[in-house]
Amino acid sequence: MQQERLRPATTAGRQSADWLRAAPSLVEDVLGGLLASPKRLLPTYFYDERGSQLFDEICELPEYYITRTETAILEHRAAAIAACIGPDALLVELGSGASTKTRLLLDELPDLAAYVPVDISRSHLMAAAHRIADAYPGLEVLPACADFTKPFTLPKSRRLPSRIVVFFPGSTIGNFDPPAAIDLMKVMRAMVTPRLGAQGAGGLVIGFDLQKDPAILERAYDDTAGVTAEFNLNVLRRLNRELGANFALEAFRHQALWVPQAGRIEMRLVSTRRQKVTIAGELISFEVDEPIITEHCHKYTPASFAAQAAAAGWAPRRTWADARDYFHVQYLELEHPKTG
Ligand code: TRP
Repeated sequence: MQQERLRPATTAGRQSADWLRAAPSLVEDVLGGLLASPKRLLPTYFYDERGSQLFDEICELPEYYITRTETAILEHRAAAIAACIGPDALLVELGSGASTKTRLLLDELPDLAAYVPVDISRSHLMAAAHRIADAYPGLEVLPACADFTKPFTLPKSRRLPSRIVVFFPGSTIGNFDPPAAIDLMKVMRAMVTPRLGAQGAGGLVIGFDLQKDPAILERAYDDTAGVTAEFNLNVLRRLNRELGANFALEAFRHQALWVPQAGRIEMRLVSTRRQKVTIAGELISFEVDEPIITEHCHKYTPASFAAQAAAAGWAPRRTWADARDYFHVQYLELEHPKTG
């Protein structure tokens, strides 16, 4: 019955096959990043099965205020946000993970045309989609297993949506460097331009983290329980497994560094000794204290975020903050809906 209702989008099967075929590009991306200076790895590699679990644990950490703060904003403002989304919309969530926060919106959106969770981790996505479908019997749930940084086909809902709205919580936008963030916000713009029967111009509900005391920021990405360190190091474990690399995990340490000029936390894996690592037949050398940058987490001012959004053709319409003004949830619309 639930299986009936929860028909995965055709994208799902295709994307998972793409992933297998994409293996050569994994090799290329990884080697390209590690031969560059400074060395870099793409953050999408974090999210294998274990990485996705660890990430869920990060969201529960006392130091990691982001999830809790954003959730509190959504709890208090869900009705107002839902009013911006409007009736009969198609809600597309990018990087949906466990879809926990989405429930707060879904509770206020009884007439949604459909919910499309998009995530790169297939098992995580499908488990979450089933839970949502169970909890919201009247809702069509159309999971799409995809890397949302690359083009993918939006599944078609049974009911014609009035408009398409993207939900992008968690300050995930901050994990993209400004040019890539602008590109992604342009992709979102294209995603919500009228189609699939949707007539109205679309919208975007996005969460972004604000600049604050660097000590608070660094602690959020370097918790005392060591979960974030484990999450960061897990990417090396994955390369060992999937690319036959031979990283010695104990010879790298996790670091979270606030870089004020760039307005971001840099997550790094720092080599604790001079060493060589073999990956897909290539030898990569590390100096003592040489970092691999694994993730950037940009922190915004209201003005810096507005400038980035404007560069992608989005105009802010409503902003909701928490009491400490740590985090913003914002509703945006297209500046020129006709031209997309
Ligand atoms: N986007 C969130 C952030 O920047 C979540 C996140 C992405 C994250 N990668 C992470 C959190 C790595 C901790 C570690 O905070």
